[in-house]
Amino acid sequence: MSSEPLYDELLALAVDVAHAAGDFARDGRETALDVQTKTSSVDVVTVMDTATETLITRAILEARPDDAILGEEGAAVVGTSGVRWVVDPIDGTVNYLYRIPVWAVSIAAELDGRVVAGVVYNPVLRETFTATLGGGARCNGKPIACSTETTLAQTLLATGFGYDSARRGHQGALIAQVLPLVRDIRRFGSAALDLCAIAAGRVDAYFERGLNPWDMAAGELIAREAGGRIEGLNGAPASSELTIAAPIGLFDALHDLLAPLNPAAG
Ligand code: IPD
Ligand code: CA
Repeated sequence: MSSEPLYDELLALAVDVAHAAGDFARDGRETALDVQTKTSSVDVVTVMDTATETLITRAILEARPDDAILGEEGAAVVGTSGVRWVVDPIDGTVNYLYRIPVWAVSIAAELDGRVVAGVVYNPVLRETFTATLGGGARCNGKPIACSTETTLAQTLLATGFGYDSARRGHQGALIAQVLPLVRDIRRFGSAALDLCAIAAGRVDAYFERGLNPWDMAAGELIAREAGGRIEGLNGAPASSELTIAAPIGLFDALHDLLAPLNPAAG
């Protein structure tokens, strides 16, 4: 519970909608999937991404008709209430396509431009990560916290790669320089779940270039409420340029390792 009843109200709606949407996408996976591509030949969108976003948009507007919505698959509803929902119907679409159980519905509620509630729901593992601003982070209702790791050499580091081939070349070269200096690297394939993994201490830290607002809005709040520091380079807010997420005691070391490697290039 947060100290703001509105944040709890928004979270309760987000959780209900995420559960309905995630179960719909999971149960619809076994039907034949119409797969199309977006920004590159490996950036896929399935008919279920769009159908799930439609379900989410309708459910939110039914409950709160004056709110705005921004969604990965094109939802762009203008509102008047000061609340905007930022939605990724299926984060980890490639995993969804390959039946790898690491994908999630991500729904965040912004109030006057600030994220105040967020849910990331993995319907296959039935895990629901939630947070409200100032109210802490939870997985299936139980409080979660980032790891207490402070040493890079002991850091289990998650990352992700963009869909553009040239960018991937740069990201591959960068990760080759990072890998010898950390415990190991993980690439799970869902930015929203990567941020929840740091929130739950399942990895120590995470960084990625090229995230969109819908990939990170809910996960960033969840990771921050679990004790994480989430920023870009040199104190900039996390953005599509770069997102670094780490426990407070590890952040500077990771930032200072990445910065000279030009992580926002490519
Ligand atoms: C992608 C996933 C992936 C990350 C990409 C995202 P999508 O989202 O979060 O892990 O590396 O940057 O675009 O396309 O599966 O919704
Ligand atoms: Ca996404």
